[in-house]
Amino acid sequence: NNLRVVTLDGPAGVGKTTLAKRVAQELSIAYLDTGAMFRIFGWKFGEAAPSMSETELEEHIAQYSFSLSGIGFDSVLSVNGTPVGDEIRTEEVAALASSVAQLPVVREALKRVQREIGAQTSLVAEGRDMGSVVFPTAKHKFFLDATAEERGARRFKQLQEMGKPADLDLIIKQIKERDEQDRNRAVAPLVAAEDAHIIDTTELDIDGVFDAIMSYFE
Ligand code: C5P
Repeated sequence: NNLRVVTLDGPAGVGKTTLAKRVAQELSIAYLDTGAMFRIFGWKFGEAAPSMSETELEEHIAQYSFSLSGIGFDSVLSVNGTPVGDEIRTEEVAALASSVAQLPVVREALKRVQREIGAQTSLVAEGRDMGSVVFPTAKHKFFLDATAEERGARRFKQLQEMGKPADLDLIIKQIKERDEQDRNRAVAPLVAAEDAHIIDTTELDIDGVFDAIMSYFE
């Protein structure tokens, strides 16, 4: 088939979402936020998840079905027919997501869903293991990186601009904790695929990273 899958992976706060949406818009294909899927499970299953049996977890997981519609900036991920909203965009939910993301049953289930979606639609898939595990044969793979300090400073600025209270040291600490957990888990740890283009964004702004990515699509 001639569906196109572009993977965009990297640690928390590196600007993946902004870039993935923009690249999807530029290529006129859908954007899939796989972090949102883990966040939904983190939010729904909460702290109980790690102590559930595999069967119990599977029963919970089976109650949710994901679908993707639209293209570029207008891409919408829905759960059981309802678009995913801002309720999952908190540091608490991110930490819960990172915790359920360690469970093999959860990863297997979401991998299956992500592949199903990728088999139906051309997309930019954003996450941690898109190039390494979920879409190993994707033609275009990118891995964005930046120091935790730089990523923390960016998030701090974002929060300030939204008029939300923020503590830079705390944000950097949370980013490092989530990185640590994501990089060191047994299943599908955060790692660049061997054939991914690695882009260090520490010294680049969004336009710079966007241009670097698009330069591979000639
Ligand atoms: O990207 P986002 O910050 O929304 O992801 C939340 C958490 O979900 C990550 O910290 C990571 O633990 C997990 N995740 C993952 N694999 C993905 C996407 C997200 O393990 N493909």
